Amino acid sequence: MNTPSKVVKILAIETSCDETAISVIEAKEGTFKVLSHIVHSQIDIHKEYGGVFPSLAKREHEKNLIPVLIEALQKANLFKEASQIDIPEKTLEPLHKNHELREVFIKTMPNISAPDIDYIAVTEGPGLEPALWTGISFAQALKTLWSKPLIPVNHMEGHIASVLLSKNDAQIKGQKSKVKSSVQFPALALLVSGGHTELVLARSWGSYTILGKTLDDAVGEAFDKVARLLDLPYPGGPEISKLAQQDRQENPKSDRFKLPRPMLHSDNLNFSFSGLKTAVRYALEKESEITAETRRTMAREFEDAVIEVLVKKVLRALSERPAKTLILAGGVSANIPLKKTLERHLLEHCPEVAYIVPENNLSTDNATMIALAAYTKIESGDTQERPIVAKGNLRIDS
Ligand code: KG4
Ligand code: ZN
Repeated sequence: MNTPSKVVKILAIETSCDETAISVIEAKEGTFKVLSHIVHSQIDIHKEYGGVFPSLAKREHEKNLIPVLIEALQKANLFKEASQIDIPEKTLEPLHKNHELREVFIKTMPNISAPDIDYIAVTEGPGLEPALWTGISFAQALKTLWSKPLIPVNHMEGHIASVLLSKNDAQIKGQKSKVKSSVQFPALALLVSGGHTELVLARSWGSYTILGKTLDDAVGEAFDKVARLLDLPYPGGPEISKLAQQDRQENPKSDRFKLPRPMLHSDNLNFSFSGLKTAVRYALEKESEITAETRRTMAREFEDAVIEVLVKKVLRALSERPAKTLILAGGVSANIPLKKTLERHLLEHCPEVAYIVPENNLSTDNATMIALAAYTKIESGDTQERPIVAKGNLRIDS
């Protein structure tokens, strides 16, 4: 990255799924200060349905965006009251399909001064379109009200950029050392979230090729669906991982269930996880009773199967496309056994590859990662204004 000496402050908005998130970061010469990082999760609301319900997510974002904005500005010390600023009709135009948000905007925003920021950034996709539109419309209204440039960001690029704040042990030339994260290109990224499972080759910020992806369910989705089969709450990833860990502590060896490792030996870098979920269902149907022990052993075998496939594909990708850095990112990168197993295999097979994972609070969806990705665009001069449209299926290589 180039490192301009100017300090830039970016306020970022993320509403692609079930988190209403706003962050403010300050960036200077490639170093970052997070001034605020607010994530309002809707998990409790969606739990009832066992997954995210798009129209409900949209309504919740409408309700949460302004309180989250106020909290983000206050935490960043950028909140200043104003006395009845005029809100021109043009400012409200983007909110014509968000009546609830429009009402609160009209009531609240006249009392808030334009903050001292340089850019606004917003997620344009991929994700749930009604949810994305809410964040985009809000960002467009703020852009007009505050006269700030608006930068659209790809959510998956945000997950990659989340590692710019990593302070974790990085593995460089086979030696473990505490270093500040810097991504060396070409970099390989394993992106694992609720909606995506992709192996992406990054030549530089903004230049990506998808080397492989899931042909059906994403890894996080498989965790969530298997959790449902095991009567565990949404989101299933952390719940399954907790049970798997208990099982490893109680039974050093476990061979009660044996699940397939889908596409482990396939001659490509694609994945498939829906068969694994079906295999879990068949195995559970054979049980006369789903006991706590059944849940623990199945959770462990499922997690082991997923990790084995992910690690094998990463090593295969690295053997085909030499990379200087491996990035593990997306919600499932919060999975500790995945992080550790990948690290162990990298040390053994590719010690020259630096390994970077996000800090814990940056694995799952948040707006700090959107601000970081926006910064990489500012750096490369990619900030020309263009119309922003919610793109549910936006690809990282488009
Ligand atoms: O990136 P993210 O926050 O949202 C999307 O963009 O999809 O990822 C959410 C996904 C969920 O499927 C959740 O179950 C999974 O990440 N997840 C985990 C863990 N923490 C979150 N999966 C496995 N282990 C975890 N510790
Ligand atoms: Zn995500």
